[in-house]
Amino acid sequence: MKADLLITGISQLVTAKGSWAKHGSAMRELHVMERAAIAIVNNRIVWTGKERDWNGEALALVDVGNRAVVPGLIDPHTHAVWAGDRLADFDARTSGETYEAILAAGGGIRRTIRATSAATKDELVLLAEVRIHALLRSGATTIEVKSGYGFTPALEIAMLEVIEALAAGTPARLLPTLLIHIPPVNTADRTGYITQICTELIPEVARRKLATAVDIFVEKEAWQVEEATLVLQSAKQYDLATKLHTEQFQRVGGLELGVRMGALSVDHFEACGAEQLAMLAASSTIATILPGVSLHLGIPAAPGRQLIDAGAAVAVGTDLNPGSSPLFSTATALALAVRLNGLTAQEALVAGTVNAACALGLADAGRLEVGLQADFLVLEGSDWRELVYTLGTNPVREVWIRGERL
Ligand code: NIG
Ligand code: FE
Repeated sequence: MKADLLITGISQLVTAKGSWAKHGSAMRELHVMERAAIAIVNNRIVWTGKERDWNGEALALVDVGNRAVVPGLIDPHTHAVWAGDRLADFDARTSGETYEAILAAGGGIRRTIRATSAATKDELVLLAEVRIHALLRSGATTIEVKSGYGFTPALEIAMLEVIEALAAGTPARLLPTLLIHIPPVNTADRTGYITQICTELIPEVARRKLATAVDIFVEKEAWQVEEATLVLQSAKQYDLATKLHTEQFQRVGGLELGVRMGALSVDHFEACGAEQLAMLAASSTIATILPGVSLHLGIPAAPGRQLIDAGAAVAVGTDLNPGSSPLFSTATALALAVRLNGLTAQEALVAGTVNAACALGLADAGRLEVGLQADFLVLEGSDWRELVYTLGTNPVREVWIRGERL
């Protein structure tokens, strides 16, 4: 066999196998090969195995110096595009105010909507580029980015255009999601807004391929189940995947709606109950947990351990956003899932790779297998578990995308 590039000196080559989501105990089935090598042709993996078993020719050799290699991480949930800051909210919260009360009083997400709507597209691209770069440095080679800080359909389209521009300027693969975040303040306008979303915004987003999925925030202070049903039905009609922010603060039935509608993922559910958990575990919908939110807002952590024990497929994301999770490291999100949600190191890596890929509808990412794009991380250490053990410094030494070191 002839390769463009052979990567050697891999102390441990770590990956899950098979493109389907790992449920329950299968989340602990990680394959660890010691003293391994990877051969690459045309940006893709053509061979993996023990270094001593390679008997082909390689045009170039890179020795990573006895370090562990894992798949590039997949961050399945970010709001990386915003303007302004939420430092006043942070002060209010650290003085005892709650996130929900701040939102109900017109602050919180509404504050960010005002600032984002006032910024130009170029300004938004510049602000978001730095954040995407931080996620990339922390190991994320595929990143979902949501709109959701626009007041109007036109501003949501503008946010998706910003994400399109960002995608063109980064080696990471960005997956854009249209997020229907917060309703108009005036309740009388809600029905009209929903109609506009379903009959104008979603069709235009689908026609211009500006997003691959539609997400909606179902919560007491946001959209209700009946409204979300219409939006998700419209998304399906236009062949867009669906997902929900739900059960973050209150049990509102969004989780049941997501499962019923066959959503790709339901995200958050810090406030979910035992029956909801069982329903989620019995479904094919991915349970995306966001430990940065639990840490930053001090709300209960989502029941990651219980979900896996019940047989669910769990994914982990940063939820990078200015209000509930200013977490700029995908690796740290995995490290927090171990501490806050009770995942093992193995489960956390599966949650941040193959399961996160499935939460984005991707069958061809999050693993190191022949035929797949060569997206991988060389860690600082020789034991891969340092990826989820390390706090406060970057355990990722090198990020490789399509067989190239960044
Ligand atoms: O995932 N809960 C709704 N949306 C975001 C927060 C956005 C914000 O606070 O700006 C979340 O937590
Ligand atoms: Fe979010």
